[in-house]
Amino acid sequence: MPATAGPEAPLPHETATCEPAILYFGTPVALISTLNPDGTANLAPMSSIFWLGWRCVLGLAASSATTRNLIANRQCVINLPSVDQVAAVDRLALTTGSETVPQSKVVRGYRHEASKFERAGLTPVPAETVAPPRAGECPVQLEAVIEHHRPLSEDDPIVGRFTVVLEARVTRVHAARSIMMPGQENRIDPTRWRPLMMSFQEFFGLTPATVHPSTLGTVPEKLYRSPDVDRARADAGSII
Ligand SMILES: Cc1cc2nc3c(=O)[nH]c(=O)nc-3n(C[C@H](O)[C@H](O)[C@H](O)COP(=O)(O)O)c2cc1C
Repeated sequence: MPATAGPEAPLPHETATCEPAILYFGTPVALISTLNPDGTANLAPMSSIFWLGWRCVLGLAASSATTRNLIANRQCVINLPSVDQVAAVDRLALTTGSETVPQSKVVRGYRHEASKFERAGLTPVPAETVAPPRAGECPVQLEAVIEHHRPLSEDDPIVGRFTVVLEARVTRVHAARSIMMPGQENRIDPTRWRPLMMSFQEFFGLTPATVHPSTLGTVPEKLYRSPDVDRARADAGSII
């Protein structure tokens, strides 16, 4: 039987039930590059993102140009800024590649911006396996293809219209040499970079050092290697 605190035991926290409008507790910021129907590049900040193996799950507004581009041509680069690119990311806030700004964005102050790379001050660099460009200044750039997408809360006629969940498969990883573990060609050193994080719409960096020895960290990283790594390698050379 689970232990419960008795009436006289001090509570670890005094809690209150509440209804925050958002539950964005903290995730990394990503800049997604995609190709618009006219072949120009779009670049959009987002942070509802997490990874499983070499797959990545993204949550995006259905009304975003990025979402339309991803569903239409299924290619992107997921660029991960460090805290050093925070000003560039912030310059893209409240902008959309959509020429007609959707009403839901108009009320929040969004405006159309056709040249997102220029607006951010970031350098488009050709990708190797997908058509959209990488953002050169970001220390991690993940080329990826979209394998699946579906509306969030598919069975809910109201919520289901607004958000799309997309599953991306990474086809190539580019990482700045400065964030690699010395002498390890396939390992990123999490102490060597400070990913830009967003929590409740505010920007944060991680603390530069670990806060506690990690038991999970004793498992060799190579034991997590996904079969998608070999698939990406087998596809090398063929533009997807
Ligand atoms: C730091 C940051 C994080 C964001 N996270 C998300 C997100 O996770 N999902 C989303 O749909 N929009 C997110 N947005 C808002 C999008 O950037 C916004 O919808 C934008 O208009 C998309 O651009 P696009 O229409 O050119 O695709 C975020 C914005 C910022 C600045």
